[in-house]
Amino acid sequence: MSNRAQFVTKMGVIAATVGSAVGLGNIWRFPYEAGQHGGGAFLIVYLLCVFLLGIPVMIAEFVIGRSTHSNALTALQKLKPGSSLSKVSYIGIVASLMILSFYSVVAGWIMEYLFQAVTGGLSGHTSEEYATLFSTFTVNPWRSVMWTLIFLLANFMVLRRGIEKGIERISNIMMPVLFVMLLVFCVNSLFMPQAKKGLDFLFNPDFSQITPKVMLGALGQAFFSLSLGLTCLLTYASYFSDKTPLVRSATVVALLDTLVAILSGIIIFPAVFSFDMEPAAGPKLVFQILPEIFQQLPGGYLWSVAFFLLLFFASITSTISMSEISITYFVEAHKMSRSRATGLNTVIAMTFGTLCALSFGVLSDFKVFGMTLFELFDYVSSNIMLPIGGVMLSVFVGWIVDKKVVEEQLTDYGARKITLMRPIRFCIRYVAPLCISLIFLYGLGVL
Ligand code: PFF
Repeated sequence: MSNRAQFVTKMGVIAATVGSAVGLGNIWRFPYEAGQHGGGAFLIVYLLCVFLLGIPVMIAEFVIGRSTHSNALTALQKLKPGSSLSKVSYIGIVASLMILSFYSVVAGWIMEYLFQAVTGGLSGHTSEEYATLFSTFTVNPWRSVMWTLIFLLANFMVLRRGIEKGIERISNIMMPVLFVMLLVFCVNSLFMPQAKKGLDFLFNPDFSQITPKVMLGALGQAFFSLSLGLTCLLTYASYFSDKTPLVRSATVVALLDTLVAILSGIIIFPAVFSFDMEPAAGPKLVFQILPEIFQQLPGGYLWSVAFFLLLFFASITSTISMSEISITYFVEAHKMSRSRATGLNTVIAMTFGTLCALSFGVLSDFKVFGMTLFELFDYVSSNIMLPIGGVMLSVFVGWIVDKKVVEEQLTDYGARKITLMRPIRFCIRYVAPLCISLIFLYGLGVL
C-alpha cells in the first residue's frame, strides 16, 4: 500500500462517498427532471437504471480505484498498459470540470437563498413574489456570478486542507442531519391538500410516457446522482482501505442516494399541486416551491436557514469530490503541487461557471443546439459523457481487467464471500454496457 492518504474510518468511507453522491442532484435536479419527464414513468426507469446499471458501474469504478490506489489515468494504465479505454479518464476530467462549472451556479443560488433566509427575505411573500425573486436574482449578472465565485472559493478552501480532514469531518456531521430534516419536510408535505395528487404523479406511472427521451433523461440523472461514469468514485475508491467492503458499500451508497431523491420528490410534488404550480417548471422548480413550504411551517425562518445551510454542505461535499478528479490528475500525472492543482481547477471552474451563471441573463440568447450554456453543460455532461464513461468503465472491468483482480476486489482480498458474484459480473460485462449503449443511442435518436 502506498503512502497516499486513506479514509480513516469505515464510516468515513460511506459518509464521504454518500457525500459525493447526495447533493443538488437529488434535491434540485431529480424533482425537476421527474417533473419534466412525466413523474412516475421517469421514476420507474430511473430506479431500473440505478439498480441494474448504476450499481454495477459503481462497483467497476471501485474495483479499478481500490486495486491500484492511483488516479484514474494511471490506474487504467496500470491494469492494462496501452489500453485505449484509458481515455475514459480524459472524459472524466472534462466532464467533471463541466459539471463543477454549472453545479457551482446552482450552489450559488443556494447561497443566495441562504442569505435571503437569514436576512428574512424569504418570508411573507405571495407565490408570484417568490417566482419574481428567483427570476430577478438569476437575471442579475452581478449577483449570481458573485455567488458562483464565492461558492468556488469555499470549495477551494476545503480542498486545500486535504482529503480526510476536509471531507470526512464535514460529511460525517452534515449528512445525517440533512436526512432527518428531509424526513420532517416529507411528513409535512403528506398533509398538504393536494398530497394525493402529488404522490400519484410521482408513484403512479403512465407507461405510455416512457419514451427514449425519458429513458435517456433517467439514465443521465441516475449517473449524475450517483456521481458515476466520470471516475469520481474511482478516485475516491483509490483512497479506500483493503478492508472496505466494496459490494456492500456500493449498494448502501446507491440505496441512500435513491432514498434522498425519492424523499425530495415526496416533499416537492404534493407542494407543486397544492400551490398550483407546474411540475415541468425546470431548474427553478425547487427554488420556487421550497420558500412556500417553509412559509407554511411553524418556525419557518429557522427551517429555511437550516435547510439551505445543509444544502450548501451537501453541495460542497459533491463539488469536492468532482474537483478531486482533475486535482488528483494534475498532481499525479503532471507533478503539480496540490495547491497549484487546486488553484487551476478553481480558475477553470470560475471561468466557465461565470459563463453558465450569465446564461440566465445577459447571455440568455447565446444558444448552441438550441440550449443556453448552462443547459448545454448540464445536458452534454450528464446525458452524453457520463453514459459513455459508464460503458467504457464497465467494459474495462468486465472484459479487460484480469478476472482474478476483479474477484479479489469483489471479495475484499478474500475476506468475504460474495454470493452474488456471478450476477454482478454478468451485469458489469453484459447488462451495463449493452443497456447503457442502447438507451444512449435511442435517446439521441441515432437508432
Ligand atoms: N452526485 C452529485 C449530486 O447528485 O449532486 C453530483 C456529482 C458529484 C456528479 C460528483 C458527478 C460527480 F463526479
